[in-house]
Amino acid sequence: MTDASVAAPRPEAIVEASAPAKVNLTLHVTGQRADGYHELDSLVVFADVRDTLRLAPSETMRMSVNGAFAEGVPADARNLVWQAAEKCGGIFDISLAKNIPHGAGLGGGSSDAAAVLRELKRPDLAAQLGADVPVCLSAQPQRMRGIGQFLDAAGLMPELALVLVNPGVHVATPDVFRALDRKINPPMPPLPKGIDADWIGWLSEKRNDLQAAAVSIAPVIGDALAVLDDALLARMSGSGATCFGIYPDMAAAQSAADRIAGDRPDWWVTATRTIGATPS
Ligand code: C5P
Repeated sequence: MTDASVAAPRPEAIVEASAPAKVNLTLHVTGQRADGYHELDSLVVFADVRDTLRLAPSETMRMSVNGAFAEGVPADARNLVWQAAEKCGGIFDISLAKNIPHGAGLGGGSSDAAAVLRELKRPDLAAQLGADVPVCLSAQPQRMRGIGQFLDAAGLMPELALVLVNPGVHVATPDVFRALDRKINPPMPPLPKGIDADWIGWLSEKRNDLQAAAVSIAPVIGDALAVLDDALLARMSGSGATCFGIYPDMAAAQSAADRIAGDRPDWWVTATRTIGATPS
């Protein structure tokens, strides 16, 4: 008997998927491997702002990209979404709406590719598509170690009200790692346990070790952090340039987002909430 929950989708089925933004609430760089990649210790969560995808079975593989951030996104085999669909053995007409800035510390193509693997029931292929893809599969809060291959569920976390701010600059990830002063930094202590723990206090004592390096390359990231100075906590995500602020509730987040968007009409600013862990 076939278990429908694990069977590959029928070729005639249209698949719709959404890819939430990945946010590194912390990102400690704890070492460098012989192959040059850096060892990380990061608390990764997902925010309810999404790219969306539609895969319709087709005679030939095709792809179109639209949305506010379509510019510069390849609509061919260079795109991780295309590669994910192909690895799953499907031939599709793919539409991808890029609503989230890419190359911006928010998961980008990795989250898009993970969404495809999730919907096509092939999570086993994630690591083949890149170090950041496995963490994006579940879209749940996780502690990520190594270069992304060691994942532990963070368990129940409070839903956080966030403002995401991208100051419109692109910083290349390898450049940020190269600009690091110190590549061996302390890992994180154990995560707080449970929804009622002092997460903000715990997060405040942690770091994004890439932040100072990214600011040195693109000082406008410092401006993005400065406009979030009324947040409970403001920090950069990933290798930048997007920064997040955590606010007491969604009303406060929305009013901060309105203020920042008014002051900086050329920046991408959005109020959103984290996607909490599903109670098991
Ligand atoms: O994962 P992504 O393709 O964005 O990584 C781009 C580059 O960033 C890598 O080629 C590597 O130079 C650097 N990197 C790293 N350590 C990591 C992740 C990325 O040094 N854990």
